[in-house]
Amino acid sequence: MTNLQTLSTNGRCTVEALPPLHILQSVQSAVRTGLSAHPKQLPPFLLYDHRGSNLFEEICRLPEYYLTRTEQSILERCAPELVARFSRDMDLVEFGSGSSIKTRTLLDALFSNGHRPTYRPVDISHTMLNASTTALVSEYPELMIKAIVSDYGRGLEEISRQRERQKVFLFLGSNLGNFTPLEAVDFLAGVRRAMTGDDLLLLGVDLVKPLAVLLPAYDDAAGVTAAFNRNLLVRLNRELGADFRPECFRHEVRWNQEVQAVEMHLASEGDQLVSLPAIDLKISFLAGETIHTESSHKYTSASLAQLCAEAGLAVERSWSDPQNWFALNMIVPS
Ligand code: AVJ
Repeated sequence: MTNLQTLSTNGRCTVEALPPLHILQSVQSAVRTGLSAHPKQLPPFLLYDHRGSNLFEEICRLPEYYLTRTEQSILERCAPELVARFSRDMDLVEFGSGSSIKTRTLLDALFSNGHRPTYRPVDISHTMLNASTTALVSEYPELMIKAIVSDYGRGLEEISRQRERQKVFLFLGSNLGNFTPLEAVDFLAGVRRAMTGDDLLLLGVDLVKPLAVLLPAYDDAAGVTAAFNRNLLVRLNRELGADFRPECFRHEVRWNQEVQAVEMHLASEGDQLVSLPAIDLKISFLAGETIHTESSHKYTSASLAQLCAEAGLAVERSWSDPQNWFALNMIVPS
C-alpha cells in the first residue's frame, strides 16, 4: 500500500496526497491497457487534470447539463431534514468533491444547526482540492478539513480508519454513474465495510429519462463537453509525450440501451498513427474508430435499490425533483 504524503498543513486544513510518481504510473498503465484493448477505451479519471476539472465546472453551468442544478435544488430543500440525522461531531466525507459548491449547502445547514463537522474531501485533482479547501477554510471559520488527493479506493482505506465519530459519506453528482454495475457494487460494498454505528451514505444519482433530454446534456451547443472529452488527448500529449492531434478526433455521444448509459467516445477522423514515447507504444486508428472515454449510467429507483442490496446497503429515503430527473438517496447498512 502506498503511503500518503502531507502536501500542506495550515491551521485547520491538511492536504494529503498519493506521491505524484504513483499517479503518473497509474496514468501510464491505464493508457497502455486501454489503448491496447479492442475496442479502445480510456478510464474517465483521466479527464480530470487541471484543465479538465475546470471544463467540468463549466459543464455544470451549461443550460443542457441539468444534473448539477437539479441536485442542488433537491439538496436545498432537504438539507434541514438531512442534518437532523447527523451527529454534532462528525466527519463529512466526500468522494469526487471537485469545487465543493453543493457541499456548502450542507455545511450551512450543519453550522446553523450547531454541528462541528470535519470535512474530508477525496479528489483526484490536487489543483482543484487546493483551491476548494483554501476557499472553504476562509468561508467557514470553524471548519476543520482533512483532504486527500487520490483515487476513491485509496481514499476510502484512509477514511475507514476513523471509527469514533459518525461518518456521513457524500457521493453526489451521479459520480457513481461512471462505474459499471459491478464496479458500483464493489465501491458501495467498500463504503459499507467502512461504515460503523450510525454512519450514512448520501448518494445522488441521475435517473433514466427521454433521450431528448439526456443526449444534449453530453453534447452541448457551445461545445464545452467536446472540449472536455478532447482534453484527455491534450493531457496524454503533455504527460506521455504523445502526438495526438485532438482536432482529428470527433466528440461522439451514444445511448447504450443495454446498460442504460450515455457514452462519450472520441472518433478518429481518418486513418492515423499515434505514438506515445513515454510508454513505448504506437497505436493505429482506422477512420471512424473510437476510444470510449466515459459511461454515465442512469438509474431507476429499482435498479439503484438492487445495486445497494448487493452491497449490503438499503435506501432509507429518497428525494427527487418535480420532473423526477434526479434522486438524492439516504442509504444505510441493511
Ligand atoms: C461527473 C461523472 C457525473 O457523467 O455526467 C459530464 C461527467 N461527462 N459531462 C457525468 C461528465 C460529460 C459527469 N460525472
